[in-house]
Amino acid sequence: MKSYTILSLLSLFVILQNCLFPLGNKAIKTTSPAANYANYCAGCHGTYLEDFADRDWQYGDSRDEVFAAIKYGNDDDGMPAYDTTFTDKEIYELTDYILNNATRIATSQSHETPALSDVIRSRDLAFRLDTVVSGLDIPWGLEFLPNGDMLITERSGILYRWSGINLQKINGLPMVKNKGQGGLLDVKLHPNYSENGYLYLSFSKPNPVNSKEATTAVIRAKLEANQLVNITEIFEAQPYVTTSHHYGSRIEFDNSGYLYLSVGDRGRRDDYPQMLNNQCGKIHRLHDDGSIPSDNPFVNHSTAMPSIWSYGHRNPQGLAKHPRTGDIWEHEHGPRGGDEINKIRKARNYGWPIISYGINYSGTRFTKITEKEGMEQPELQWTPSIAPCGMDFVNHERYDAWNGDILAGSLRFEYVNRCIMEGDKIVGEEKLLEGIGRVRAIEMSPDGYMYIAVEASGAVYRIVPEG
Ligand code: HEC
Repeated sequence: MKSYTILSLLSLFVILQNCLFPLGNKAIKTTSPAANYANYCAGCHGTYLEDFADRDWQYGDSRDEVFAAIKYGNDDDGMPAYDTTFTDKEIYELTDYILNNATRIATSQSHETPALSDVIRSRDLAFRLDTVVSGLDIPWGLEFLPNGDMLITERSGILYRWSGINLQKINGLPMVKNKGQGGLLDVKLHPNYSENGYLYLSFSKPNPVNSKEATTAVIRAKLEANQLVNITEIFEAQPYVTTSHHYGSRIEFDNSGYLYLSVGDRGRRDDYPQMLNNQCGKIHRLHDDGSIPSDNPFVNHSTAMPSIWSYGHRNPQGLAKHPRTGDIWEHEHGPRGGDEINKIRKARNYGWPIISYGINYSGTRFTKITEKEGMEQPELQWTPSIAPCGMDFVNHERYDAWNGDILAGSLRFEYVNRCIMEGDKIVGEEKLLEGIGRVRAIEMSPDGYMYIAVEASGAVYRIVPEG
């Protein structure tokens, strides 16, 4: 009798759990360290433990040091603490699992990039992948000069020009804080570049008076041969913080020449994104010289930062202009689940962290709700998180069935996500190039080719339709 009561209580609990986590976003703790690793850690450190293979350990490589890193985490680096999720015994098991297996699993199981020379037949298009550049470290942003040369930012702090024959380093770059997710980030030309020669770079800027802190900043400059000249800093997000993640950092222009910049919440979920008195967790709208447009939504608000165009964002690493409507589209990383694609509109609140389809990395929840009046619903959300980075609209008839669709990169699952569009709505999805590696940047060139930059291979590829 007693066991029946327990059983029915248990099943009630399971039913309740399913109601609370309707999206399969469940935190499943098991007795197997491999399964715990897959559920709790792989999202950031890689399915095949690749982040720990041959690692240069930051917090020490002894068993106790690795244990401590997992148990207590590191707020500034973006490593969650697992002291309330796991027992010490479970944390030691995870520690041993990582220390004893990382190099072996990473080297034996890491997948090979797809056979690049072959014709790839996706659902609606056959194409080849041209390797345009290889041997980069972590390419982050791509842009095209009017003569066809390609500019590539490398997160370590280098800006390259690819001339079609060789890679040339650009001199005169600002100092960047190359730590965690920071470094040299996006690059974008002014829409009238051929007349005014302005280009823009976003980066993690160390605080000149306290090098422990950094923020997202943007410079405008001109390119003279391979030298940056006339450098002006046009934006610096307030405040500087000690964390080294969630810089956001994509730059995009709209059809009226306004510059949009995404800035992440800098890992301060509960302090910044819902407050208008700071510039983190926001999309900003600026004139091309960094000055504030007089019709920005919060210019007359006494405590708000006037650059803010929309707020309630987590870490937006994708920004692209819809080629037909001219709207600015954005995607952002959720925590564990709840990555989003949004259409960015003036003064709107996108809800982070009040509403979210995600949960904490530890498996606990920070909100019960996914919708609220006055807060925007995403056009699409990804649970589990794909960790989206880089996006652009396909805008050339050579891509035929893809024309008008969004291509977005996945850092986590290492593929390109095609969002199939009907007009202004996402109506389907397709996984392309599975196994290509962590996709960082996606950009359509002025001559109408889609380019993708991938971390692991340090390469930039061009998607060339066949036939
Ligand atoms: C939200 C992403 C995220 C998740 C989830 C996460 N980590 Fe981390 N972890 C980090 C970051 C960021 C660092 C700092 C070092 C770095 O940048 O790689 C780190 C550091 C570590 C370190 C120390 C590495 C060193 O160099 O000393 C260990 C060990 C570690 N994590 C284990 C784990 C384990 C085990 C889990 C799952 C229980 C986990 N992490 C979950 C992001 C994450």
